[in-house]
Amino acid sequence: MKVAALIPAAGSGQRLGHGPKAFVQVAGKSLLERSVSALAPHVHEVLVALPDGTTLPEGVRARAIVGGATRQESVLRLLEATGADLVLIHDAARPFLSAATIRAVLEAVQLTGAVTVAHPLADTLLRAEGPLWGNLVERAGLWAVQTPQAGRRDWLLAAHREAQAEGHSATDDAGLLHRAGHAVRLVPGEAALFKVTTPGDLLLAEALAAVWDAQALV
Ligand code: C5P
Repeated sequence: MKVAALIPAAGSGQRLGHGPKAFVQVAGKSLLERSVSALAPHVHEVLVALPDGTTLPEGVRARAIVGGATRQESVLRLLEATGADLVLIHDAARPFLSAATIRAVLEAVQLTGAVTVAHPLADTLLRAEGPLWGNLVERAGLWAVQTPQAGRRDWLLAAHREAQAEGHSATDDAGLLHRAGHAVRLVPGEAALFKVTTPGDLLLAEALAAVWDAQALV
């Protein structure tokens, strides 16, 4: 069974404000380079969707295609560009992806064909009413969805094409698999897999990178 890693990296990075987010550097390495080098040893090919008019930064060993106007469009293009049987879809914006998580996802996707990494929520949750405390939301059973999200390529392709034909937009590939009727297995993720979105996240990523990169050297 051939496995590909697909990395949508074609976002503009507007909320971060440093140009395309995938090219933003954390402790000397771009977010994209961090995601690609985490995944490359575990898969047959790595395919990246980039913003139009950009090229892969030096040192990133992957095949690049031009992404679409939304994450969903970028992922559909990536699915169409690979011939792999199984795919792991991972946001470039989540640079701290461990080998243990990748192995757990690969094991689960080979068994079930539809998987996402997700993290059980720890905070108390509430629905706000404007600026005020509204109602508490029962936390038990609530998970935050992360990536990698993985599946059989034929299932993902069908789910994405169905969503596109129906004008349904989604931020998650596993959500589209669920919508298409597949049972999606949850693989517990890690707090370190957070998505770099705001300037505050970038500071956190810089601090974490110091520890992460030192561990990689031992
Ligand atoms: O904007 P957000 O952080 O939710 O994007 C999640 C991932 O999807 C990022 O890695 C981003 O580069 C990617 N993306 C994409 N094509 C778009 C928009 C976002 O590949 N048009």
